[in-house]
Amino acid sequence: MFKINDNYLKLPGSYLFSMIAKKVNAYSQANPGKKIIRLGIGDVTLPIAPAIIESLHGAVDEMGRAETFRGYAPDLGYEFLRNAIAENDYKARGCGIEADEIFISDGAKCDSGNIQEIFSADNRIAVCDPVYPVYVDTNVMAGRAGAYDAQKETWSDIIYMPCLAENDFAPELPKETPDIIYLCFPNNPTGAAVTKDRLQEWVDYANRTGAAIIYDAAYEAYISQENVPHTIYECEGARTCAIELRSFSKNAGFTGVRLGFTVIPKELKCGDVSLHSLWARRHGTKYNGAPYIVQRAGEAVYSKEGQAQVREQVAYYMKNAKYIMEGLREAGYTVSGGVNAPYIWLKAPDGMTSWEFFDFLLEKANVVGTPGSGFGPSGETYFRLTAFGSYENTVEAVERMKRL
Ligand SMILES: Cc1ncc(COP(=O)(O)O)c(C=O)c1O
Repeated sequence: MFKINDNYLKLPGSYLFSMIAKKVNAYSQANPGKKIIRLGIGDVTLPIAPAIIESLHGAVDEMGRAETFRGYAPDLGYEFLRNAIAENDYKARGCGIEADEIFISDGAKCDSGNIQEIFSADNRIAVCDPVYPVYVDTNVMAGRAGAYDAQKETWSDIIYMPCLAENDFAPELPKETPDIIYLCFPNNPTGAAVTKDRLQEWVDYANRTGAAIIYDAAYEAYISQENVPHTIYECEGARTCAIELRSFSKNAGFTGVRLGFTVIPKELKCGDVSLHSLWARRHGTKYNGAPYIVQRAGEAVYSKEGQAQVREQVAYYMKNAKYIMEGLREAGYTVSGGVNAPYIWLKAPDGMTSWEFFDFLLEKANVVGTPGSGFGPSGETYFRLTAFGSYENTVEAVERMKRL
């Protein structure tokens, strides 16, 4: 008789977004005339840029002609895309990442969830608190998290690294030594960035203790400040301790198209086994490659027109972020993030909890955000707003909040 992987039963329900939907539905049913503005979503709203659409069309046409038809993509991804990534995202920044150290995938969610498979089941993981939930939940599924404490909303075997105003929302080196450290900068949900010096401390720490860093840089395109690294490989020694995850979702609007990649330098080893070879094995066995047409679309992101167009989109969202930051500051809120990321992290006023503030904002301003407690215990009393709405809605939401 089969048995299930009962680690899945340990997972608490994904309460956050279902609870938000339930509350918003209940409110709009009771108040049908009210215009609700949603600044809670982490999804982009602008359409895909014209240069990318053109490339997609061209690739679709190629698939319809015998001479240019393509079947299975190479395991690691097409060279045209891996070369464009190596040149533009790494070599142009002085980082010696080679095309064959890049693994093309269908997004950073899958990669950030799957990467733990190549590590031993008894490795200890450390995560930021608050955190993008995928890192924790996939380690729970793999049996690496221990027991859940429903009161504290933490797992016994996970090392939590609080990210609070006191440490500029970037974690301190942990007291217990982890084997795997998940870092995400610019951060979802706090919108915080890490300086190069602080990231270098993490790289040095990982090399000293023999830990691996899984660095999620899905929001790299939003970096605006000089001293914020665009990739962990800007830090010395990162090639021997860090895996980097990237996505085309937030820089180029591929949330529905699906494309991302993982970088594993060949020097990253456990004894004489390279993680690169394990991930290549895993990729070759379990994955048949991102679609050709999507990889061509990814290549177009790096073209001259593509770059100009996607930068314009990022600027559009960041104009929203600026409007939210300035407006809410003016209204007396304590806000952070929003400078190198499309997320604004604000302190719930008057001692309210995250959920109390959610209800207050929904009822009094008809604005929807995301309660910080949904991302971890240190998110309690915080609230996330995103810059992915339209400019008009963003302005209206902020004006409503100012009037509260
Ligand atoms: C930190 C972080 N990593 C990864 C992802 C997922 O990226 P993708 O759409 O490439 O799967 C998200 C999406 O919101 C994210 O916030």
